[in-house]
Amino acid sequence: MRPGTMVGRAAQLGEFVDAWSSDGTRVNGRGHRGPRTVMITGATGVGKSALVAAALDAFAPAPSVVLSGTARVHTPAPYDWLAAVLTGRETGDLPVPDDALAWLAQHPDAPRERYAPGALLRLAVTVVRALVGSGPGVLVVEDLHALDPASLNLIGELAVVPDLPALLVVTSQPPDAAVSPDMVARTIARLAGTPGAVRQHLGPLGPDEVATVLADRVGRAVAPEVVAAGMRHSDGNPYRLLEWLAAGGAAAETVTAELPELTARELEVLSCLAEGMSNKQVARSLGISIRTVTVHVSNLLRKTRSTSRTEAALWALRHR
Ligand SMILES: Nc1ncnc2c1ncn2[C@@H]1O[C@H](COP(=O)(O)OP(=O)(O)OP(=O)(O)O)[C@@H](O)[C@H]1O
Ligand SMILES: [Mg+2]
Repeated sequence: MRPGTMVGRAAQLGEFVDAWSSDGTRVNGRGHRGPRTVMITGATGVGKSALVAAALDAFAPAPSVVLSGTARVHTPAPYDWLAAVLTGRETGDLPVPDDALAWLAQHPDAPRERYAPGALLRLAVTVVRALVGSGPGVLVVEDLHALDPASLNLIGELAVVPDLPALLVVTSQPPDAAVSPDMVARTIARLAGTPGAVRQHLGPLGPDEVATVLADRVGRAVAPEVVAAGMRHSDGNPYRLLEWLAAGGAAAETVTAELPELTARELEVLSCLAEGMSNKQVARSLGISIRTVTVHVSNLLRKTRSTSRTEAALWALRHR
C-alpha cells in the first residue's frame, strides 16, 4: 500500500466519487439542475481533508476548475471563504464592479459599507458562477464551522443556485466546535437537505484500521501491543495516532515501559483468568485463599485498566 493511503474509508470514498461521476454525467449530458452537495462532518483530525483530497484525486473526468477555500481563523472577516478562493487568482475579467470585488476579496483599501448585504451576496454568487464557467467544477469549503456568517450564507445559497455545474464539497467539525453553533448546525442541515446531497460523518478508526495505518507508516506489521498502545493514545483518531507515532510512541521500548508492573503472583492469577477460571478455581490452583485471589484480581483490574475479569483476560492474551 502507498504510504498515506486512506485506511478504512472505502465506502465513503466510493460514495463521494460516485457523486462526482453522476454530477459529471449531468453536466456533460442533459441539462443539470444545480450543484450537488457532499457534506462531511467529524472531529478534528479524523480525516475529513484527507478524504476530500483522495476523492479529488480519483475524480474522473477531472474537474475543469476547483475553487477551494478555508476559514482563515485569525482574520475572521465577511466572505472569508470567497476571499480565500480569490487569493492569488486573476480577477480582472470578473463581471462585478472593482469596488465590490475589493470588498469580497478583503483588500485592505476596500471601500467601507458601500453594498447592502443582499447585493453583496448576489455579487458573490456571480463571482463564483464566473469562476466555474461551463465547468464541471468543484467548490471545496473546508472547516465550515470556523467560517463567518456571510460565508455560511453564501455556501447555503450556492448549494441551491440553479444551473451551477459544480459539486459542492463541505467539511465541518461538529457545530459545538463553532463560534456560533446554531448557525453552523442550521447551515449543515440546509446543505444536507439539498436534492441528491451526500452526507457523511467520519468516526474514529477501529483497532484493525489502526493496525493497518501503523503497518503502512512503519513499513511492516506491528505487534498487537503496539496497536493496543496506539488505540489507547489516539482513541482511533488518525491525527493523534500519527502524532503519537512521530513522537516515538510505537517504539518497542516505549510500549514495554508503558505496560504496568505486575508482581509474579499477579501474573500467575492473570494467566488463570486467561484460562477462564473462577476465583475459587484460581485459589485452589495456586494454593492461596479466595480472599487473597479477590485482592489480586482487583489490583489486576486497576493496573490493566480493565472493567471486568474478561477484559483483564483479553488484556493478558494481547500482552503476554
Ligand atoms: N483513514 C485514514 N488513513 C490514513 N491516514 C489518515 C486517515 N484519515 C486521516 N489520516 C491522516 O491523519 C491526518 C489528519 O487528517 P485530516 O487533516 O484529513 O483531518 P481533518 O478531519 O481534516 O481535521 P481538521 O478538522 O483538524 O481539519 C492527516 O495526516 C491524514 O493524512
Ligand atoms: Mg481538515
